[in-house]
Amino acid sequence: MVTGKAKGEKATEIMFFDTTLRDGEQAPGFSMSVEEKLMMAGALCDLGVDVIEAGFAAASPGDAEAVRRIALETEGPTICSLSRASEHDIKIAAQALKPAGKSRIHIFLGTSPIHRKAKLNMDTDEVLAAIEHSVSLATTLCDEVEFSAEDAIRTERDFLVEALECAARAGARVLNVPDTVGYTTPDEIYDLFKFLIAKVNNADNAIFSTHCHDDLGMAVANSLAAVRAGARQVEGAINGIGERAGNCALEEMIMIFATRKDVFNAQINVDTSKIYPASRMLAKMTGNPVPRNKAIVGRNAFAHEAGIHQHGVLNDRRTYEIMRPEDIGLSGNALILGKHSGKHALAARAKELGFEIDDDRLAAVFVSFKVLADEFGEIADAQLIDLISGVTGTASAVWSLKRVEMRAAYGAQVEPFARVELEHPERGAVTDIATGEGPIHAAFNAVQHITGFTASVEELEINHVGAKGRTDCIADIVLRIDGQLFVGRSRTRDVIPAGVEAYVDAINRAAASLNRDAFGQEKPATDPGKTKDAA
Ligand code: KIV
Ligand code: ZN
Repeated sequence: MVTGKAKGEKATEIMFFDTTLRDGEQAPGFSMSVEEKLMMAGALCDLGVDVIEAGFAAASPGDAEAVRRIALETEGPTICSLSRASEHDIKIAAQALKPAGKSRIHIFLGTSPIHRKAKLNMDTDEVLAAIEHSVSLATTLCDEVEFSAEDAIRTERDFLVEALECAARAGARVLNVPDTVGYTTPDEIYDLFKFLIAKVNNADNAIFSTHCHDDLGMAVANSLAAVRAGARQVEGAINGIGERAGNCALEEMIMIFATRKDVFNAQINVDTSKIYPASRMLAKMTGNPVPRNKAIVGRNAFAHEAGIHQHGVLNDRRTYEIMRPEDIGLSGNALILGKHSGKHALAARAKELGFEIDDDRLAAVFVSFKVLADEFGEIADAQLIDLISGVTGTASAVWSLKRVEMRAAYGAQVEPFARVELEHPERGAVTDIATGEGPIHAAFNAVQHITGFTASVEELEINHVGAKGRTDCIADIVLRIDGQLFVGRSRTRDVIPAGVEAYVDAINRAAASLNRDAFGQEKPATDPGKTKDAA
């Protein structure tokens, strides 16, 4: 049983079965091309999941091709294809899995009364015969077979025992007990797994597996309960994607095992530092951003804004952090400067930006900072540099957006262009006109020409927010510059200036961090002007 580690007790190995590319991909809005699936399989391989369910080969030629390419090009994990309990599906799955180092066919068949009647029109004997026939056939065509009793949770317990026993007898090495409709509770599923593990005969060579959906928000809790009761394989998807409300979020399960070894003495084979890259890749590829407050991989998961929290984290991160950001592959926590931040965080950020300010100056900056934070919410570095520079009497050495005009010619034979005017305290006002695939892309190109930076846009999110009779656009951007990621943010009245201003904000942060001047060139080793004025 996977419980807290008693002295000298050996950890129990838990296998991770990733179904991001099958159950996840079949959800509306999450489809991926073959090439994208291949890239995602690479990220899952780096993460070290034990099994990749690469698709449902018989569902479409595209799915079969994805399974085949992943089987051919991915080394390490077992590669699996879903299959109905039919000869036709099993043969297509086997064919697609041929190049795999280790292959698994995953056969599913509904066992609950509602599935038998409304979907399959089969009685219990017919269901058992189909399990027997399909599992036996599949064992001759691949390395191992998994059988899923679809809608197991709503299946009569005695019949579920019969169905799983039949699959085990026919050679299935993994007996999966899915909560297809996300209906169960932790106590109930714990009890069910205990019952099944005690009752199913012929299962000595098989492991039990859990596959929970999140319709009632309990997929992770239910999967943990199943593991405590003896399940040895957990099925889930990155970012919790999947049918309807999704599957058990694999990153949450992984970090629970990694963080609470005192509760779950589980041995897992994953590299947790590959969680964040896999999550970002999936979000970007499918165009579904991870909610900011999502456990483990949300942007706020390691971000702190409240003053008391920031003070604690600055003294010792463990005050408010139970995991380290680097454990999931993030570099450092994010102290977000906003209206809840305190002086400690402000001083720490100013120092990172190269400003050593004494207590009197800090007090003065803090007052203006709070006023600005009330208006903007989150304060960008460029705004902070402006503030500090204003108080210390120096002009800030950053670009600001003065004007943007553009032509958006949809479907016409003319190329979109943008005219952008930026201002810099050392270079004055500079205008550039550029073309691009679209007008905002053209504006970004113009900013690159003016600032001398080459950047690629990794993420751009623009949200329309409204409060107290005023509506604004908030743009968040992530740019890759010289292999590093820089964020930018802006809040203005309209979409276009918000996007361009956020882009400029990210360039300013890159310039500060990479020590570049207004032309994008590396500065001499020290910057006496800034140090003198700011000291
Ligand atoms: O939710 C489910 O029952 C499934 C099966 C195919 C395992 O996804
Ligand atoms: Zn499912």
